[in-house]
Amino acid sequence: MLFRSSKQVILTGIRANNDLTIGNYFGAILPMIDMAKKHSKDYQINLFIPDLHSFTTPIDHSKLQEQIMHNLRLFVAAGLPLDSPNVHIYRQSYVPAHSELAWILDCFTGVGEMNRMTQFKDKSKGLNDDRVSMGLFNYPVLMAADILLYGASYVPVGDDQSQHLEFTRDIAIRMNEKFGDLFTVPEPVKKQHEFFGKDQGLRIKDLQNPLKKMSKSDESGKGVVFLGDEPEKAAKKIMAAATDSLGKVKFDWVKQPGITNLLQIYALLVEKPQAEINARWEGETKYGELKKAVADAMAGFLQGLQARYEAVDMSAVLEKLNKSEAEMNKVANNTLELVQKAVGLR
Ligand code: TYM
Repeated sequence: MLFRSSKQVILTGIRANNDLTIGNYFGAILPMIDMAKKHSKDYQINLFIPDLHSFTTPIDHSKLQEQIMHNLRLFVAAGLPLDSPNVHIYRQSYVPAHSELAWILDCFTGVGEMNRMTQFKDKSKGLNDDRVSMGLFNYPVLMAADILLYGASYVPVGDDQSQHLEFTRDIAIRMNEKFGDLFTVPEPVKKQHEFFGKDQGLRIKDLQNPLKKMSKSDESGKGVVFLGDEPEKAAKKIMAAATDSLGKVKFDWVKQPGITNLLQIYALLVEKPQAEINARWEGETKYGELKKAVADAMAGFLQGLQARYEAVDMSAVLEKLNKSEAEMNKVANNTLELVQKAVGLR
């Protein structure tokens, strides 16, 4: 019996290791929800919580359950239509096939391949090797399993995950060449950007250090806007964003990364094309005015999202979660069985 959907699958996962940021929101949640709202008749939409990925770096384990439920609630507050039968929400660890497939794929993955992952290099930099977890090292393999189990073609992610997506394609192609057509190979990253109407992967930068990514695991949190921040607090973070001394607004990631980051965030918040925002602001000399406009838009956005969060009916979310998890186990087990047969385990 083939359980795999006849529809193309759009899938993404958001880790529950900390509160989510506007980077997670604009990089992955929003594109996913846009697709779910506009195209859930034609595509299968899987938005899941990769809970096994949550502790590749240390976390407070007593808060994990709460964070998982909080994130699911946020997805709904952000507009995920739970009533569509083609929309699925689930927790990775409730579908054991993810870890089983990851193990099998591990055995076809080179240590060198994982060593070349820039995110691994960044996150392990300066740490004693004995403190860097194997989970952090090979989590791209688990991520590949997350994608391949459901035959996903499109995977909206921020720019920092593009390399992992390329790896997913590589391992899928490698397995298909060795064992016949096992997996749907996700579309190349460039094609994914076209599909989501972008010219490149999104990178929201840290407000205090616009040379690095805005990250939910950032310790000080000063350069990070969390979706749960009080609107005034978030507005203050924007007003305190690091800029430059050139004194003239220009969209230029090299010379004016701080200003450019603000222009980018502004365009996303007010849902206008970047070119239109740039045309309005380029040449302005008062950075404070741009900051004020972004800060106001940010406060308004968070107010709306947080009000919708409060109104979410969690019993409907839990009902959907249980239903999706039962269905996704069938799909995932079916793919896993094909792989188990191919490698001689069955
Ligand atoms: P995670 O949880 O770190 O981040 C979730 C998503 O948010 C995007 N993102 C950003 N986008 C733009 N600017 C930023 N500053 C920014 N920060 C984060 C990430 O690119 C990501 O899309 N390994 C994944 C989770 C995962 C997954 C998967 C994703 C596990 N399995 C399968 C897709 C498919 C991760 O750690 O994302």
